[in-house]
Amino acid sequence: MRNPRDFFKALAIDAPEPLREIPFRPSRMIHFLDFSNEKMVAKVPDIAPTVDILLGNLEDAISVDRKEAARAGLIKVGRGIDMGDTQLWTRINSLESPWVLDDLTQLVGEIGHKLDVVMVPKVEGPWDIHYVDRLLAQLEAKAGITRPILVHAILETAQGMANVEEIATASPRMQGISLGPADLAASRRMKTTRVGGGHPGYRTLADPDPQNPDAPRPSYQQDPWHYTIARMVDACAGAGILPFYGPYGDIRDLEGCETQFRAAFLLGCVGTWSLHPAQIAIAKKVFSPDPDEVKFAKKVIAAIPDGRGVHMIDGKMQDDATWKQSKVMVDLADMLSRKDPELAAAYEPDPET
Ligand code: GLV
Ligand code: MG
Repeated sequence: MRNPRDFFKALAIDAPEPLREIPFRPSRMIHFLDFSNEKMVAKVPDIAPTVDILLGNLEDAISVDRKEAARAGLIKVGRGIDMGDTQLWTRINSLESPWVLDDLTQLVGEIGHKLDVVMVPKVEGPWDIHYVDRLLAQLEAKAGITRPILVHAILETAQGMANVEEIATASPRMQGISLGPADLAASRRMKTTRVGGGHPGYRTLADPDPQNPDAPRPSYQQDPWHYTIARMVDACAGAGILPFYGPYGDIRDLEGCETQFRAAFLLGCVGTWSLHPAQIAIAKKVFSPDPDEVKFAKKVIAAIPDGRGVHMIDGKMQDDATWKQSKVMVDLADMLSRKDPELAAAYEPDPET
């Protein structure tokens, strides 16, 4: 049993105190870059202002012979490039790998004051978070870091899925969780070679028409990630942390990507990964609430200033619960408007309403 008073104590002498609340900053896309590529490092000043979060990837997709160069490139970015209000994250190598100890010690030692979040892959249970939590505290203390580096888990094993609530609540450092559909599919033995998104074989089929039994039967593709995303969203919302969709691997299928991102947004995710510049614009569009919905939500709040009672607005019933739904939309719109003047203008109520 852990003494509840200890939960918010630093895990090492001179480490910064844990945060009570996870800050919610614009987080529509976590843009993955490989900084072992010097051209990518050179592009950071141009890319950073176009995204909410920039992530230096050290794990999968970085080949073994480039692991150290990717880490060194990230350190160069953290040391030398002003990120403005864009967050800087990293995805470290997995906890059983030979690189992770150097990832954490070098990154916190060299650029710990610039790193907002460390993404930990293949998290199986709270024990993985506890390990990273204590180690980060020791490294922060050694490096004299004054604000805690937060931790983000990727949900990408069947065991991690079964423990998702305990992972979400394992430490006050937990900032959020992303879906890792490729590793998760493999771990579950799902039969797909795709990274995220649907599959033409995963579908429903209508019953035969008794009047016309030979007629083609309507059939619809279903979303194989629905349960996983919904459960991840509940685990995160219950713990006061932020859920994200993950990678969408078919870079050319912009429509499929947009549809999958939107399903995640509607279910409660705050953002997604972007693996290619084309996905940045999609994430921005999808994870910024729709202007018409924001305008309607503003109307509800203006009409029910105390958030109580039952009201009819544009023929739709509104009460305490719909007022709260409207608050979710308007608070998100307000937060994003502070970053993006174009969105601020789009969310202004129409003059005639
Ligand atoms: C991401 O890391 C994935 O496995 O999908
Ligand atoms: Mg993975």
